[in-house]
Amino acid sequence: MSCNKSYITTPIYYVNDIAHIGHAYTTIIADTLARYARLIGEDTYFLTGTDEHGQKIEESAKSRGREPQEYADEISKKFRDLWDNFDISYDKFIRTTDAEHKKGVQKAFSTMYKNGDIYKDTYQGHYCISCETFFPELQLVDGEFCPDCGKSTSVVEEESYFFRLSDYEDKLLEWYRDNPNCILPKSKRNEVIRFVEGGLTDLSITRTSFDWGVKLPSEFNEPKHVMYVWLDALMNYVTALGYGTDDKDMDYWPARVHLIGKDILRFHAIYWPAFLMSLDLPLPKHIGAHGWWTRNGEKMSKSKGNVVNPKEVADAYGLESFRYFMLREVPFGGDGDFSQRALMDRINSDLGNDLGNLLNRLIGMSGKYFEGRVESDLVSTYYQDELDEVQDSLDKLEPFIFELQLHRFLEELWRPLTVANRAIDKYQPWTMIKEGKTDETMALNGLIATILAKVSLMLHAVMPKTTSTIAEALGFEITPENFTRYIRNGEQLSSFTIEKREPLFPRIEEELLVDERLETLKKEKEAEEKKAKESKKKVTTTTEGVTLIGIDQFFQTSLKIGTVVKAEEVKKSKKLLLLQVDIGEENNRQVVAGIKEWYSAQELVGTQVCVVANLKPAKLMGMKSEGMLLAAKDVDGLCLIRPEKPKIDGTPIA
Ligand code: MSP
Repeated sequence: MSCNKSYITTPIYYVNDIAHIGHAYTTIIADTLARYARLIGEDTYFLTGTDEHGQKIEESAKSRGREPQEYADEISKKFRDLWDNFDISYDKFIRTTDAEHKKGVQKAFSTMYKNGDIYKDTYQGHYCISCETFFPELQLVDGEFCPDCGKSTSVVEEESYFFRLSDYEDKLLEWYRDNPNCILPKSKRNEVIRFVEGGLTDLSITRTSFDWGVKLPSEFNEPKHVMYVWLDALMNYVTALGYGTDDKDMDYWPARVHLIGKDILRFHAIYWPAFLMSLDLPLPKHIGAHGWWTRNGEKMSKSKGNVVNPKEVADAYGLESFRYFMLREVPFGGDGDFSQRALMDRINSDLGNDLGNLLNRLIGMSGKYFEGRVESDLVSTYYQDELDEVQDSLDKLEPFIFELQLHRFLEELWRPLTVANRAIDKYQPWTMIKEGKTDETMALNGLIATILAKVSLMLHAVMPKTTSTIAEALGFEITPENFTRYIRNGEQLSSFTIEKREPLFPRIEEELLVDERLETLKKEKEAEEKKAKESKKKVTTTTEGVTLIGIDQFFQTSLKIGTVVKAEEVKKSKKLLLLQVDIGEENNRQVVAGIKEWYSAQELVGTQVCVVANLKPAKLMGMKSEGMLLAAKDVDGLCLIRPEKPKIDGTPIA
C-alpha cells in the first residue's frame, strides 16, 4: 500500500470551541501517520487548520460582542498554539478565512457550475445551526429536533443554489465497491453504502440568511449568497495545495488519508467525493473515521462540565504517554472512555515495566559486567531464534499503520519487548557471567540493545522524544537510513557505550485526578514565585513618588457602607461575581466585582462591604457595574475592607 507521496489531513476545527481530547485524538493519529511516512522516506505533506465560517461562528462571535474575524483569529490561534505545544508536525495550517482558500472555493463553484452540476432554486427545510445541516422533516426527532445533536431546528425558506448530488449516486456506489479500503474501518463503508443506496437528494450549497462566509464568484452577481460552510470547509483539502490559485502543491493530491471522526463521515464519504468528481479531480485513497471519546460513559460537553482538556492531561502525565495511551487504548473506529486509571496503568505497565525498565536492565547489566560497553557482533551466533522472532513481528507491522489499526500496531510492537525481557529471565546473565560465559553475556546485551533500537525506530512516530532519547542512549539516530538498516535489512546495532540515566517512565503510584496533580504543580509554582517576589520587594511605605492630594479631592469620592443582598457567579468568567448591594438607596446597586478567586457568591450574601458609590457605571462582560468594592491585595491574595462593627447601609465613610 506504499506510495511515494503521502498527503495526510485532519479535519479543520471549528473556531467556536476550545480543543478537547477528541480534537487532540484526530490530530495525534494524523501526526503519527505523517511521522511514520516521513521516516520510511515518503514525501509527506501534513495539513491541519481551522474552519471559520458559518452561522454558528457568526452567532458565537456576536454573543460575545465580537467581530467574527477577530473572534476567529483568537480561537484559531489557540488551536495552532496547542498543536505547536504538542509538537504536531504539520506542514501547513490552513484557515478558511485565508484569501487563497476563498479564491479556491470560488473557482470550484464556477467549475462545478460550468460542468452543469449547480442550479438555482428555492429551499424550504429544517436547519440545524449547530450542525450546519438541513434535515428532511422525516428525520427530525419529535418533528423538531436535530437527529444528530438533539438541538432544536428552525424552518428556513430561502433562495439557494443546489449541487446535483443525486446525479452522483451510482458513481459513488461504484467507487465504494471498487475500493474496498476507501473508507476505514470497513464496517463504516457498509454504513455509507446503505445510506447512499437509500437515495440522495440534491444539496443546497448557498445561504442568504447570514453573511459570514465565502461570497459567490463575482460573475454570478449574487451579493446576498454565501457558500454553504461544508462546501467551503471540504475544499480546504485542495485549496491548501494551491487549487484555484497557483496549484503549487497539487502533486500531493489525492490524499493518502483524511482522518476524521465518525460524526463527519457523511460529509467526507458522500459530499466530498461527489464534489471532486464534479471537479474532475481524483478521489482520496482513504477516509479514516475514528470513534468518539466519552467521559465516564457520557458524551463530553461544556454544559456537563466533563470535557477533558488535552493540555492538562499532557501536562499532568506527559505528552508522549498520552499519545501512546490514546492510540493503544481504543481500536480505531470504536468509542473509548477516558479514564485516568487506564492511562496510569498503561504508563506503569506498558511504558514503565516493558519498555523503560528494559533500558534500565541493559544499563545495569552492561554497567556491571562491561563498564557500559555493548557489542552486537555475536548476537546471531547465540540468539538467532530470538532475532528471527523479533524480525518476524517487525515485518508484519507496517500494514497496521496504513490500515489505521494503531492499537494493533502497538500491541504487536510490544512482542519484541517481550522477547527481550523473556531472554533476560531465561538466560540469566548474572549466572552466565559467573560461569565465565562472557561472550554469551555480551551478546545478550547486544540482543537487548538491538531490540530496543528496532522498537524505538518503529515507535518513533508515536513517541518521538522518548524514542530519540533511547536512540541517543544506544548510540544511534532515528533517521530514514537507519530505518532501512535496522528494520528493512534486519541489521544489528553497532557497538557503543551506554551510560546511566534517569528512568524514562517513573512509576505513578496513586490515582490522582488531573486537577489535583495540576493543583499541586500550580501550588509549588506559586510558592516559588511568592518567595522570589518577597525577597525582591517589601511593600514600600514611603510617600516618595506618590501624588499628594488635598482633602477636598479625597471627599470627591463617595464611599459608603453597604450590604450584599444577592450574589451570583458570572458564567464563563473565572474572576467575576455579580452582586446586588444595598447602600441605603431606593434601588440596590449592581456591582460586578473581580473577586471570585477569593470569595464564593454564597459567603458574601448578608455581609457588609465598602462601596465607591459615585463611579461612572461601566460594562463588564456585557453587565452594568454601578460601583466598586474596597479591597486590599498582597502576595497572599485579596481581602475585602469591611466595617469593624455593623453599620446602617448607606453610612458614609470618611
Ligand atoms: N469543522 C468540521 C470539520 C470540517 S472538515 C472539512 C468539524 N469540526 S469540529 O471541530 O467540530 O470537529 C473536529 C473533529 O473532532 C471531528 O473529526 C470530530 O469527530 C472530532 N471530535 C469532536 N469531539 C470528539 C470526541 N468527543 N471524541 C473524538 N473525536 C471527536 O466537525
